[in-house]
Amino acid sequence: MTKYVIHGGKPLFGEIDISGAKNAAVAIIPAALLVDGSCRIENIPQISDVTLILNILQELGADVRTVNRTTVDVDCSHIRNARVPEELARKIRASYYLIGALLGRFGSAQVPPPGGCDFGGRPIDQHIKGFLAMGAEVDVRGGFIHARAEKGRMQGTHVYLDIVSVGATMNIMLAAVLAEGMTVIENAAKEPHIVDLANFLNSMGADIMGAGTDVIKIRGVERLSGGTYSIIPDQIEAGTYMAAVAAAGGEVLVKNVIPKHLECITAKLLEMGVTVEERDDAVLVRRDGKLTRTNVKTLPYPGFPTDMQPQIAAVLCLAEGTSVLTEGVWDNRYRYVDEFRRMGAQIQVDGKIAVIEGVDHLTGARIQACDLRAGAAMVIAGLAAQGVTEIGCIHHIERGYEDIVRKLSGVGADIRVVVTPDEEKQSQVG
Ligand code: EPZ
Repeated sequence: MTKYVIHGGKPLFGEIDISGAKNAAVAIIPAALLVDGSCRIENIPQISDVTLILNILQELGADVRTVNRTTVDVDCSHIRNARVPEELARKIRASYYLIGALLGRFGSAQVPPPGGCDFGGRPIDQHIKGFLAMGAEVDVRGGFIHARAEKGRMQGTHVYLDIVSVGATMNIMLAAVLAEGMTVIENAAKEPHIVDLANFLNSMGADIMGAGTDVIKIRGVERLSGGTYSIIPDQIEAGTYMAAVAAAGGEVLVKNVIPKHLECITAKLLEMGVTVEERDDAVLVRRDGKLTRTNVKTLPYPGFPTDMQPQIAAVLCLAEGTSVLTEGVWDNRYRYVDEFRRMGAQIQVDGKIAVIEGVDHLTGARIQACDLRAGAAMVIAGLAAQGVTEIGCIHHIERGYEDIVRKLSGVGADIRVVVTPDEEKQSQVG
């Protein structure tokens, strides 16, 4: 087993550079399927989810060339295959973007149901509602979602989303870019990565208006052509390091961010007594005094992001008084709570509400990451805790955080990757 070993209790000082946004990259890379020509995509984060989605495109026949550490050229012009390989697609939630992108490109798609973190049910009925409204037939058989545009090309239409869904908004956008006529998505999600996907597609020749509001209009065009695009910085990665400073104390300049995207996180940290100063493309985070309790409810953007819920819980565990945390997006995103309790946290969960009684300090323990953001929250708890914390199942964390150990070591954290002898033996055996 590979694990992180953290000797906690050390405040963090220095600078951290934020990578490109995971949830933008995993939509923009499949969007290259719609482009007739080569797309140079810059500021790509080096994380396993991105590697997976690039591998899927390669298996479909795309020409993927690494230009440098953060830039790839993706050319999907020669792909003729609309059936996505099963084993890779099942490992990643974002494989559902291949349905919209392949429907847009070929008028047909065969994609296995998506994988990803387990937060209870993760339906895709709103994605399918959109595809059906645009004239596709969709059915599930033989372990694949089969979708086919009845007229050979998707048809523009009005789609009202019953739930604000990031995935459905982006997937319908992908299916609509090359459709015949105008598609209007109402009650659309407004996350920064939705705007980023629209900007990417527009820079390649699409006609998308209103991304970032709850009504997005997409006028279908005949063709997209290649170009260069740079992905936005990762809002959640930045928020995670901001929360780490809040929990462990110290002063860190979090660089290469869009401060506007962080306002929902900044507001809560300020309420808790953390200092956050906005710069042009950085935020300075400082915590030297006590943390104050607060309440947090997760909501679609511009509300407090659900993808920051476990990390803010780690901070609230150390705040004086009782805080109430309400999960407003997912049914079951508190699976990490038992692991926090092993570290001395006092948390009671009832459905979507967690009541957190702040403690003076957490203590190191052996714990297991159960999903991506929960794993990041355990790192934060470990950094703040007294003693040694060992975190297993770190593959969850590496799905979404580039170089987390190097970045945290660079600001003074004592965190190491340790491979236990068992794993060494296994890898020797092959
Ligand atoms: C995206 O998931 C992100 N993943 C998630 O981040 C994030 O938690 C989520 O958006 C919300 O911000 C990616 O971008 C790859 P949704 P997505 O559709 O698109 C319900 C992370 O840690 N719903 O906005 O799958 C759903 O059950 C990951 O980086 C339906 O009922 O989320 C949920 O309650 C984890 N029917 C709510 O809507 C649908 O058809 C929001 O889901 C779709 C969603």
